[in-house]
Parts: sequence; C-alpha cells; structure tokens
Amino acid sequence: MYLEVKNLSMTFDKKVLYNNINFRILPKEKVGIVGPNGVGKSTLIKILGGEIIPDTGSIEFDKNIKIGYLDQYAKVDKKKRIIEYLKEAFSSLYNKEEKMKEYLKLIKSTTDSSLHTRYAKSASIIQEELEANRFYEIDSMIMKVAKGLGITNYGMQTELGKLSGGQKVKVVLAKLLLEDPDLIILDEPTNFLDESHVEWLVKYLKEYKGTFLIVSHNQEFLNDVVNVILDIDNTQVKKYKGNYQAYEMKKAMDAEVFERQYAAQQKEKAKLEDYINRNRTRASTAKMAQSRQKKLDKMELLEKPKSQNVPMHLKFNYSSISSHRFLVVEDLEIGYYFSLLPKISFEIKSGDRIAIMGFNGIGKTTLLKTLIGELKPIGGNFKFVDDAKIAYFEQEHHFENDNISPLQYIQEIYPKLNEKEIRGILAKSGIVGPLALQPIKTMSGGEQSKLKLCLVTMQKANVLVLDEPTNHLDANSKEELKKALINYPGTVIFVSHEHEFTNAVATKKFDIEELLLS
Ligand SMILES: Nc1ncnc2c1ncn2[C@@H]1O[C@H](COP(=O)(O)OP(=O)(O)OP(=O)(O)O)[C@@H](O)[C@H]1O
Ligand SMILES: [Mg+2]
Repeated sequence: MYLEVKNLSMTFDKKVLYNNINFRILPKEKVGIVGPNGVGKSTLIKILGGEIIPDTGSIEFDKNIKIGYLDQYAKVDKKKRIIEYLKEAFSSLYNKEEKMKEYLKLIKSTTDSSLHTRYAKSASIIQEELEANRFYEIDSMIMKVAKGLGITNYGMQTELGKLSGGQKVKVVLAKLLLEDPDLIILDEPTNFLDESHVEWLVKYLKEYKGTFLIVSHNQEFLNDVVNVILDIDNTQVKKYKGNYQAYEMKKAMDAEVFERQYAAQQKEKAKLEDYINRNRTRASTAKMAQSRQKKLDKMELLEKPKSQNVPMHLKFNYSSISSHRFLVVEDLEIGYYFSLLPKISFEIKSGDRIAIMGFNGIGKTTLLKTLIGELKPIGGNFKFVDDAKIAYFEQEHHFENDNISPLQYIQEIYPKLNEKEIRGILAKSGIVGPLALQPIKTMSGGEQSKLKLCLVTMQKANVLVLDEPTNHLDANSKEELKKALINYPGTVIFVSHEHEFTNAVATKKFDIEELLLS
C-alpha cells in the first residue's frame, strides 16, 4: 500500500468538504480524482502534499517510496538555467560521479599498490552504479522529456526567471518526471499543456510503471490513462475500478439504485406515519400504532440524494451587427519581437464559430491577443466591421483584485447594478450562496473560471474571443458552455484543446499548423 488516508475531515468556513473519509492507494493504481468544481479536489491534493493541514485525520505514505508532488507555485532560483535545473533531478548521481573522480585522482597520486587497488575498486563500483542508473544517458533523457513537453522551444539555457507562469510549471513537471518517483501527484496537468504535449504525457503515463493520482476534468485524458477513479461527492469519496467511462456508468447505476431505495423508503415511511396518525388516539388501535411508531423510529433513514453541482445557465449578451463580412485578416504577421508564423489571411462571416487549431507555442494565444488589440501586429493588417464589439476570455486567471468577492468585483465594474441583480447574474454562472461573498483568491480553479465567464456574458458584444474557456470547468459546466455558445447568435473565435468541445461548437476550423506546411 502506497498511501492510506484515515478519518479525514475538512471544512472551510461553513462548507464541509469531506466528512470522515477513508481510502487507500495501492501500487500500480493509476488514479483519476474527479468531482464537480469546488468539491475539494485541489484541497485534497494540497493536504496530501502537506500544504494544508486538515481538521482531522491522518495521511500515511509508504516510507520506502519516492513521491513526486507537483507544486505549481514552487519557488525556484530565478537565475538558474533550465538545463541546470533539470539536471538537479539527478543530483545524487552527479555527487557520485564527483566521488568517483576523487578516487581517480587519488589513484594517480598514490604509489602504494594496495591503496591503488582499493581506490580502483571503489571507483569501479561507483562506475557500475552510475551505469546501472543510466547516468551516461542523462542528457538524452532530459532532452526527451524537455522535447515532449515543448520546453526545448524556450531554449535550454534560458533562466527560469524569464519564463511565463505556464512555462515554468512545465519545467517543474519535467524535473518531477525525470526524478522518476514511485507516486506522482498532479492537479489538472492538461490545463497548462497543449494538445501535442498532452498526447506526450498520455504516452508517458501509459509506459510509467509507478502509481499516480491526477485531478482532471478532461475525460478523454482520464479514459486514456487511469484504471481507478476516486470520486469526491457530497463530502464522501468512493473508489471505482476502471476508466472514466466505466466510472460514469457505475456511478449512474449507483445513483439509480439509491434513488429507488430512497423512494421505496419514503413510501414506507409515509404509510407508517399515516397509519400512526389515524390510529394513535383510538383505544382499540393505539397499541398497533405504537408498534408502528417503534418500527418507524428504528428505520435508518436514507438522506435525500443531493447534487453539489450548481448548474450554470449561461447566456451571452448579444448586440446586433449590421455587416455580414465580420472580420478580414490580410497578410497578418503576429509575434512579440519577430513574426512567429508565415503571413495569415482569412475571413470570418458574422455568426461563424471559428476554432483556432494548432500545437501550442505555435501562437494561438498570440493571434487572439493581436485580434483583440492587446498586441500590435508585426506586419499586415486586419479589420473588424465598424460596430464589432469584442468580449475576451483570457487563458490565465487574472483578476485586477482577488482579495475582494465576486459580488464586490462586479459592483466595481457595474456600479449601477444593485446587489440583488448581481446575485442573480452570478447565479446564472453557478456562483451562488456564500461563494459570491468569498475572496476571489480562495475560490477553486473552476469557480474562478465561472466568474470569468460571468464577466464575459455581461459584456454587450457580438464577437466572443475565448482562449481555452473549458479549462478548470467540470463536465456539466462544459456542457452548459457548449450549449450557450451554440445558441449564441454572434461570432465566436476560440481555442480549446478538447476535441469533443471543439467539434461540437465550431462551424469552421482554422488550423495554423497548415500554414507552416504550405
Ligand atoms: N481559504 C479558503 N477559504 C474559504 N473557502 C475556501 C478556501 N480555499 C478553498 N475554499 C473553498 O473550498 C472549496 C474546495 O476548493 P478546491 O480548490 O479544493 O476545489 P476543487 O475540487 O479543486 O475545484 P475545481 O474543480 O474548480 O478545481 C471551494 O468551494 C472553495 O471556494
Ligand atoms: Mg482544483
């Protein structure tokens, strides 16, 4: 057994995340942790990583195993170069090499033949150990992982301090994988990876001999790599054998069985209560009523099944548009300092929903940022119709001030709206109850995404520019977003690494990769 969690309970303010949960993780289990937004998945990962102390409970890891926990906010030496940082994964081997070099020096300097033999023997033992641990393949191992995750694109000599948040996480992940732990713990890794890197990670995880615990809302990914699902639901956890699909089926069956049991029990309860009420006061039947009352008291009442999933009802605000030719892009060159891609030309009609495709780092986000006017084109030009109004959903979570609540945040942008109106709007994005009053920085990833979507729905626009809008969203919310976009009469330009979502929403695809080939 690699990990045992006993009697774990955790509450934030008044929200109970888990009530006395127990589970074990065994070697060879490839675990996907799932559950709706805000259910406590990231919190569980942080508890396992020792970042958060739970209210009660114990967490025991097998002492003999090496754990690789991905800390997305890990502090790194900013001056260190990527290659140096990745080599640290093998520092114990490098230390051994140093030792071997010392022996080799001693061999040269000694004339005593017995000492000579001893040093030579020590050196050769280390040498064998290094070979067994693939010391001489380190460079190629590093390059394999770095290439797989797209890190080589940044230049291996780049200092860590010069990387963006997402790039840094990839480097931290690369080091973790190179350390080859027995148990890997990751929180939504596909969010900061692009399609081709997700594919690489899938392949890596399939070949990986150890155990992992991965939180993800990406069903395709989970289906590919897990053999166990740990489902967090309603303050409890339950383990399901099999991949995500198997879990979905079993869970639906469980729910059906439970609903039936619950309904049957409610019926029985009502019958008993009815009998008791009618017969309690009559002397001839009072005894019977009493015995039924006893039966009723003994009944272990099932709790009404409730879903923690607060549904979204998104509706994007649409301001109508006159022209049909919505956007014309001519010989556009995009980039920061130099052009990332060959010249881009395309046209979008009003009402088109365009998926921008292509591996990451290729410039999808750069293209979107250029179109919304945040970046200047390097060359060429593009033109929206005159009355185009853009609403933009940025890939990374970024709030002007995350110490205030969603309610305050919206109040600051729309001072004319009163609290009740804002509450109503937030509720449509699944932000209800105390969540609307909680500091944004303490909200879960998915909850923050919902707030961002809410802000987009509020803008009167006729083109939505969305950069990975499904990141962090749970299954139901993704469905809801999909529906809202399909029903939106305006234009949508979006990037998503989720095939199913892209295929359902897009009326057209624009594959940047093809530009490179032509
Ligand atoms: N410091 C805090 N104070 C109050 N509430 C908190 C705090 N940290 C987290 N929460 C709440 O606890 C709940 C669980 O958060 P957590 O980040 O674990 O969710 P999650 O399951 O990872 O969700 P997601 O799928 O959106 O990532 C959320 O409702 C969140 O708002
Ligand atoms: Mg989370």
